[in-house]
Amino acid sequence: MIPDAEVELVRDSADIVGIIGDYVDLKKQGTDFRGPCPFHQGTHRNFSVSPSKRMYYCFVCHEGGDIFSFLQKRLGMEWPEAVRLVAGRSGIELHEITKRNDGPDPRSALWEAGAAAAEYFARMLWNDPAGRAAREYLAQRDVPRELAEQFAMGFAPREIGLMRAHLLGMGITDEAMLGAGLLIKQSEEQEPRPRFRQRLTFPIYDASGHCVAFGGRLLGPGEPKYLNSAESTVFAKGQTLYHLHAARHAARRDDRLIVVEGYFDVLRMVGAGVEHVVAPMGTALTAEQAQLIVRYTKNVFLMYDSDAAGLKATFRSGDALLSVGASVRVVSIPEGEDPDTFVRRHGRDGLEQHVNASMDVFERKIQILERGGWFSDLIRRRKAIDHLLPTLRATSDALTRELYFSRAAEVSGVDRRVLESEVASPARNGRVLQPPRAPEPPPRRSLDPDEAPAAPRPRRFRKGPGWSAERELVRSMLGLRAMVERIAERIGPESFHDPRFRQIFATLLERGSDATAEELAEHLPPETVELLQEILSEPDAVLHFERTVEDSLVRLQLRELEVRNHEIDRLAPMASGEEKDRLVTEKMSNQQEINRLRNSIQQQ
Ligand code: UTP
Ligand code: MN
Repeated sequence: MIPDAEVELVRDSADIVGIIGDYVDLKKQGTDFRGPCPFHQGTHRNFSVSPSKRMYYCFVCHEGGDIFSFLQKRLGMEWPEAVRLVAGRSGIELHEITKRNDGPDPRSALWEAGAAAAEYFARMLWNDPAGRAAREYLAQRDVPRELAEQFAMGFAPREIGLMRAHLLGMGITDEAMLGAGLLIKQSEEQEPRPRFRQRLTFPIYDASGHCVAFGGRLLGPGEPKYLNSAESTVFAKGQTLYHLHAARHAARRDDRLIVVEGYFDVLRMVGAGVEHVVAPMGTALTAEQAQLIVRYTKNVFLMYDSDAAGLKATFRSGDALLSVGASVRVVSIPEGEDPDTFVRRHGRDGLEQHVNASMDVFERKIQILERGGWFSDLIRRRKAIDHLLPTLRATSDALTRELYFSRAAEVSGVDRRVLESEVASPARNGRVLQPPRAPEPPPRRSLDPDEAPAAPRPRRFRKGPGWSAERELVRSMLGLRAMVERIAERIGPESFHDPRFRQIFATLLERGSDATAEELAEHLPPETVELLQEILSEPDAVLHFERTVEDSLVRLQLRELEVRNHEIDRLAPMASGEEKDRLVTEKMSNQQEINRLRNSIQQQ
């Protein structure tokens, strides 16, 4: 910390005209100096520097401040760095206060281990015969040595003992190497082994430039393609952005930042002269990462891979950024490309064209929904609105929020007060019986061996309302095969909510009602076979088939009507006048039918 009194002194003694004069062509005009404004790239002398007030100001773009803010905004420096620089120019010695009691930072041993490993890996890559395949790999990916060196890339050899011996020789302890995640120890007795073997390495730095982790890429096919350091006291993946330490100055200076997915995307963009780019390393941005970004700029461009996972990550990241007040735009690149391949092919010009054609993240969401025809009918419109709600809810900037609400109301034809109340009541959304969701895409490749995917969890089947009716129907069909056709006349397999009952019914229809249990079992997945056996082994066979089947069918029918009425409740607020009338009528007739069916059960 720099004491306030010293900051004042530095500001007062600064040669503000001399320092700003390095960047702006200043001419004396009265007591002040005037030049073209470097902030809005003006051509007339509207930018004024006042040595007496120790301030600068532009009469056109209204940018103004003191010498420190000039250096911060113009050069992307941090404030203390700016103070130090100006102090240096005036020959003032600063007495920075460091926090009391701080002995050496316990993290510094891990940072040192990281830095030493990075150097070692780099030497392996460029100067060691073991690095040949990696050098060839880079050449074949069109990565010039200069660029790879700028990123301190390296190569971790296959040998188990080399890196450790080398680092021990430099005085780096096993403890530090283990703590930094460079070595892993499976058990106490075992010798520690290197985490990264036969991989190209990217050092990962924290925002202050300490080497806190590595990403390692296989040279060929295999899994996982990238291995990242495990989380440690110096590395939390969700709080780290790859390349932020280098991009932050440019981000502040250019007042924008581009977010891409991975290492090579960053590398390629920097190679093309775009410095303000970072990567969350293969996932959507977390809240912490979003927070980190808006410290440098509020203008964020998301440029994810153009696949389904990339799109999903785009909107997730967008919401995280909107909730910390950023303005978010989406740069779409052609199908099948990622920023790496795209820039390799189309260069900086192609990139700039696409950045210029970027679209506000909410607008992009609407565009995708519109192109898919999601605003065309009521049910789909309801779902489309469900997609817009999280973004409306996330957006914290008042003006942006206002614009988004108007836009959502316009595109959906739903009154904005209704949208506002939907946004205000998160609990209602998606609670009642949404149609089954599309399966989640496979988890996006995180992957460390430590967090290797566990064996698939046995699936649980929820016994919602109607479950026992489903079970009775299946029991009846298995007990008396003539029931299969009787039931099939009234309902189809899709009326069963438990997938196992659905499968049994479908298989009975497919194989013919005289199929034996063994035959059925052959065509069913294990968890369904288990249930089949359980039902078949029950001693109390169905007594009154007719009654049981009729009863169960009525209960499923009731369930369907109730589900539909819930759905109508959900849809109604979004419906136009005419649609609403239709829905109300439908709900009333459903209710009558429900009452009739309930009575019929009770009378039995
Ligand atoms: P991609 O699979 O898009 O990798 O993952 P890429 O950068 O295009 O890789 P190349 O071009 O085939 O080499 C994007 C990012 O996701 C993280 C990495 O940070 C990667 O750069 N990732 C990916 C992992 O952490 N682990 C993986 O197994 C895969
Ligand atoms: Mn990619």
